[in-house]
Amino acid sequence: MPYAHITGWGMSIPEPVLTNEDLAKMVDTNDEWIRDRTGIRERRIAREDQFTSTLAVEAGIKALQAANLAPTELDLIIVASSSPEYIFPATACIVQDQIGAAKAGAFDLLAACSGFIYATNMAAQSIRSGSIKNALVIGSETLSRFVNWKDRSTCILFGDGAGAFVLQASERPGGVLSAVMHSDGSGAESLTLLGGGARYPATETTLAEGKHYIQMDGKAVFRFATRVMGSATKEALALAGLKTEDVDWIIPHQANFRIIETAAKYLKMPLEKFVINVDRYGNTSTASIPIAAVEAFEKGKLKSGDKVVFVGFGAGLTWGALVAEWTGPIPAKKQAHPEQYRLFARLRSWARRAIRFLEGFLSRREL
Ligand code: COA
Repeated sequence: MPYAHITGWGMSIPEPVLTNEDLAKMVDTNDEWIRDRTGIRERRIAREDQFTSTLAVEAGIKALQAANLAPTELDLIIVASSSPEYIFPATACIVQDQIGAAKAGAFDLLAACSGFIYATNMAAQSIRSGSIKNALVIGSETLSRFVNWKDRSTCILFGDGAGAFVLQASERPGGVLSAVMHSDGSGAESLTLLGGGARYPATETTLAEGKHYIQMDGKAVFRFATRVMGSATKEALALAGLKTEDVDWIIPHQANFRIIETAAKYLKMPLEKFVINVDRYGNTSTASIPIAAVEAFEKGKLKSGDKVVFVGFGAGLTWGALVAEWTGPIPAKKQAHPEQYRLFARLRSWARRAIRFLEGFLSRREL
């Protein structure tokens, strides 16, 4: 049975910064309240010309570069997102086209902020089963488009960004060691974005009722999150045959510093073992775990052979944890140039569009 190694990682963060002071000019809040209750100082907001796919493509290409893998080698692309570009087509298909992953299957996965853990597990299991060899998993968000900037209880929390992993099959033991995924739909109402789906398609009424904004019962989500972070971590560790003492790093979903602190206490682990960057990016939903992993690697914290737990929770309600042995950089066999593949992808995409146009033109003439 092949092992599923994390061989590439990349992130993309929009440049525009929205600080707590900026927010204090928009709603009745202040820097002290936001830092005390959440640990957040600032977050990034996508420019008007940046979309969920834009950030996803950037993060995905960086992950391919790190893995030294050509996009044409990919068998599968999964984009986990709470703010997908459309209901359909899948954001993953836009990514597939833009990076030139000619032979990859592509789909979106919706498990809210737990999405990256679910998606990484799905990709890892496909590799373990032998059905695929190379996968690109991306968490990407432009949640700022769904935030009610007049609602101080939610607008302070969220930010935009993307992160990605490349997973590859190898005979060498390691990589993804275990994972657990859970859900409890009885808590669905505590975190929602109801508008724009089939039940509440966009109408003047749904707009007037604010159904296209994120709505949240903050206290209920807080209670749920503090309960499941520790339990999911323990469960996944037990499946991997590991104890908390064996863990080098916990990379949690970055929603709130106090939630992470409570999980650390529950697990009786020092906070120093938790990778935390919620202060600079806020809650970037599916992107928060890979962004934190990329930063931990770039800062020299995360090293080859380290045992890591990725753990998250979100709307649904969903939660999960995944244990991995961090593979780290692998020696390059052949040089891949994903930027060149991107150019090739554009040409290929135009050619395919031209062929479809010609086919349509000819079939109309035949009729
Ligand atoms: N600035 C200032 N005051 C604010 C505020 C803000 N941005 N937001 C709410 N308040 C006020 C409330 O109106 C309330 O005032 P009141 O006591 O006069 O009624 C008071 O602060 C306390 O509000 P409350 O909602 O009880 O605060 P809290 O301690 O529960 O913190 C959250 C709110 C949202 C920070 C916290 O509940 C949380 O982090 N929940 C989890 C959210 C989450 O992680 N969601 C994503 C999951 S993936």
